[in-house]
Amino acid sequence: MWVISMFLVTGATGGLGRRIVRLLRERELAVRSFVRLMSNYAELEQRGSEIFIGDLSRERDIQKAVQGAQYVISAHGGDAEAINYRANIDLIDRAKEAGVEHFVFISVLGVDRGYEDAPVFKAKREVEKYLETSGLNYTILRPAGFASNLLPLAEQFRRTGIYLLIGDPQSRTSIISTDDLAKIAIESVSLDAARNQVLPVGGAEILQRQEIPRIFGRIFDREPIIINPPLLAFDATRNLVGLLNSKGQESLGTLRALLANEFFCTPAETERIESLFNLKLETLESFLRRYVSV
Ligand SMILES: NC(=O)c1ccc[n+]([C@@H]2O[C@H](COP(=O)([O-])OP(=O)(O)OC[C@H]3O[C@@H](n4cnc5c(N)ncnc54)[C@H](OP(=O)(O)O)[C@@H]3O)[C@@H](O)[C@H]2O)c1
Repeated sequence: MWVISMFLVTGATGGLGRRIVRLLRERELAVRSFVRLMSNYAELEQRGSEIFIGDLSRERDIQKAVQGAQYVISAHGGDAEAINYRANIDLIDRAKEAGVEHFVFISVLGVDRGYEDAPVFKAKREVEKYLETSGLNYTILRPAGFASNLLPLAEQFRRTGIYLLIGDPQSRTSIISTDDLAKIAIESVSLDAARNQVLPVGGAEILQRQEIPRIFGRIFDREPIIINPPLLAFDATRNLVGLLNSKGQESLGTLRALLANEFFCTPAETERIESLFNLKLETLESFLRRYVSV
């Protein structure tokens, strides 16, 4: 008898999750997308994904969603405590109970640097540790920033020529093509060399952040106008938010860690990913050119 391997993907309507589901369906693999009732999941359904409607803050929903799944890819994001931490712990526990064969967790580059003021980083590090000792087969991916995050900024640039760059323009990043990351996440479940590994994942090149508006400029044939407030301006705004809403101030801590630090993979780490997954990582410019209309 044939047993169909089922992937469960959380965050299936997100920038990464959507691409994971698309790719699984292109490969004619069975996938169950965990989505919220009010989110936009029509595309996933049209592509032939099974749809599981639930909320990751409810353990009962997680328990139902994992039934019959061989693989879980945790690609959701949200509130640090309830969604980044608790929902992942529940997902790991329930996956184990249901006999899931492999669990892929999307963490974040720099998660092990101990940023005290960044709740999402702290939550993800705790989840990593829990997964490592869970007894499940796992792959932990620690990606740099996603190229898909830049698509709305590219559209804005096309209209206005303006790019807002907060903090040090020379700080380095190795933005990953969200499509490459989707491939890596899917193939992690079947690759022996990716089993029980923690893998930093960056893109094809290390860029200074000021190179992003230059890339936009090349694509749209337009001179960039870079607005570059210092990090101090962000801090002042954050403190102001704190006077009105302490939770809001806390969650801005994660954004501050992202703005104030460098997030790039070394060439050796990048080579390792290319050789493990037998792929040539895409540059940011190539990713953007595939998505934006000029
Ligand atoms: N973006 C980056 O640059 C980056 C870099 C490194 C790591 N990561 C990590 O990669 C993962 C994916 O990031 P992304 O940018 O693709 O995420 P995203 O676009 O922000 O999407 C978040 C997803 O989580 C879902 N979600 C949130 N709360 C939920 C709940 N209570 N119940 C069910 N689903 C819920 C959202 O559903 P709705 O559609 O209903 O809102 C959405 O599908 C995250 O873990 C993120 O921390 C991201």
